[in-house]
Amino acid sequence: MSQTLPKTKSFRWKKTSLQLLDQRLLPQKTVWITCKTWQSVASATREMVVRGAPAIGCAAAYGVVLAAKQKQIPQALKGLLAARPTAVNLQWALERMEKIHNNFGMQNADCGIKEDINKKNQKSEIAALEAEAIAIETEDRLSNQSMGRLGSDLLPQNAIVMTICNTGSLATAGLGTAFGVIWSAHHAGKLKHVYALETRPYLQGSRLTAYELQQEKIPFELITDSMAAHLMKTEKISAILVGADRIAANGDTANKIGTYSLAVLAQHHEIPFYVVAPWSTVDLRTPTGQQIPIEERSTKEVLEVQGKSIAPKGARARHPAFDVTPSILIRAIVTDRGVVKPPFSNNLRLQHYRGPFSTLHS
Ligand code: MRU
Repeated sequence: MSQTLPKTKSFRWKKTSLQLLDQRLLPQKTVWITCKTWQSVASATREMVVRGAPAIGCAAAYGVVLAAKQKQIPQALKGLLAARPTAVNLQWALERMEKIHNNFGMQNADCGIKEDINKKNQKSEIAALEAEAIAIETEDRLSNQSMGRLGSDLLPQNAIVMTICNTGSLATAGLGTAFGVIWSAHHAGKLKHVYALETRPYLQGSRLTAYELQQEKIPFELITDSMAAHLMKTEKISAILVGADRIAANGDTANKIGTYSLAVLAQHHEIPFYVVAPWSTVDLRTPTGQQIPIEERSTKEVLEVQGKSIAPKGARARHPAFDVTPSILIRAIVTDRGVVKPPFSNNLRLQHYRGPFSTLHS
């Protein structure tokens, strides 16, 4: 089967602006929004124009380039970080950008910068920040390819997989995380079928994953989240593949709400549960899942479906947008540095020091 690049892209850097595909309108409409300031990137992130852990990291990095042009880097670093709390990729990308900014600050302090060379220096800083943002995007794209290959190797021939949320090119800079594994397995001729969970309440599964699967001509059926147990019991599901927004040092993994219940069900049905995420999602500074901040989004997103009320007037709701899957339920974490197996506390740390492409066993 011939391999081509994925058909969907969620952001495009245009040097003076960042273009974002408005994911709130998919699949009905394809509208690109142009962001010329870091503030517009921050609000687009908050409002889910752009979403998915690696994609919001990339967008934030470009947001800092725009901020450099506005001479507002410190404000941007703070404002972009506050846009969404759970995905650590945002913090990771901003820390990389901050490092470049600090290096320039130090150089200026060292040579006691004068007004006339100030402009020249701002230009070089913008160029360096832009190069870093492009590197973040490129690395994510390449990491998707590595994870795709490694994850696909874990699957049997004629694999039937189940996935939640959207983890494809709309959520990353490339093929995707869990979706990248699905894509690679499909192109390796190993994949029979995908069950995509609709992912209530924001419907990333039905609006975005179904859209991407269809674009890539990958055989799939959409199911409601509540159908997962029944299908695990009655069909031969080979694996559950999910992405991640933050992986704690002990392997506990935050991902889209509903992931935890899938993991519990997978354990009961003895189906391997794989997390697929780039190393930028691994947060060794957070010891366990208990310390991961869980974003609470507007309850309107629960009480309404695409602007239409589905509950009695005055009904109260909750909307934790993510949950944490305890590492005990995870068979392996597929990263761009290799497939990490339990015990995760040990092996994630080892992998951190060892570098790419090795498989760690207990
Ligand atoms: O709220 P979202 O749509 O940003 O949530 C996205 C997810 O939970 C994904 O599974 C996650 O970012 C990892 S895959 C790129």
